[in-house]
Amino acid sequence: MSAKEEKRNSDTAETPGTEEENVPGSVAKLIPVYVMGKRYEVPETLTIMKAMEYAGFKFIRGCGCRGGICGACATVYRKAGDYRLYVGLACQTVVEPNMYLAQIPFYPANRAVCNFAQLTSNPEEIFKLYPELFRCIACNLCTKACPMDVEVMDVMSALKQGNIAKAAILSFNCIQCGLCASRCMGELPQYHIAQLARRIYGSKIVPRAEHLAEAVSANSESRYDAYLDVLMKMGEEELRRVYREREMEPEIATEDWVPNDTQYL
Ligand code: SF4
Ligand code: SF4
Ligand code: FES
Repeated sequence: MSAKEEKRNSDTAETPGTEEENVPGSVAKLIPVYVMGKRYEVPETLTIMKAMEYAGFKFIRGCGCRGGICGACATVYRKAGDYRLYVGLACQTVVEPNMYLAQIPFYPANRAVCNFAQLTSNPEEIFKLYPELFRCIACNLCTKACPMDVEVMDVMSALKQGNIAKAAILSFNCIQCGLCASRCMGELPQYHIAQLARRIYGSKIVPRAEHLAEAVSANSESRYDAYLDVLMKMGEEELRRVYREREMEPEIATEDWVPNDTQYL
């Protein structure tokens, strides 16, 4: 990140945010925030990430999806007159007056190296790779830090009890931001441990999906080659039309839903 030495000192400003954040053309009140100790005036409607960009910072790291998915923008902040340290995702958290902000580039938490193909679903494998799991003292600070509302402590507890499936399901929403590890007095790399649990669960515990195996075998039997040839010969306009008019699975579909055209099933 680098800061432009440009001071913005009007009382209001056109906000450069998206439709979700601003009515286009509207003005938003400017509020003071502090980035790495320096004061900036930024529109109150912006997320931390956009406010920092408004202030002249350029993200060359610590920014990815901008949609709360990639976990790259972990941020620590404090509010004026409040002793607490808060954490959040810069792309999701809206600024508040007198926030003191610090962007966290990355927590270099321990990630165990293993030959995943040789691992089994025996929880002992996780215990051997991450013995620090048993340093957890169940303080729950990791859960409080999580911007995705993952019950991180419960994930660690499930693993200590050898329940990989429960840990995998509970940690499904983890985006690997690392904020849990930042608050852990047991110095656990919770997100790496939970990711290993999810990988073991998906690869070695959950039964293989039969429909997926069928689709893979249909593909290797060249069942779709003739239709792919038809698509390859279409012009752009026709391709667009076919794409627009394709039959889609409804957002809420029952288990037995099938498309009207079943020739490629
Ligand atoms: S579990 Fe940890 S790494 Fe995952 S989203 Fe929550 S705080 Fe981030
Ligand atoms: S912060 Fe660390 S010690 Fe506390 S509950 Fe979470 S994993 Fe356990
Ligand atoms: S930029 Fe991806 S979660 Fe914020």
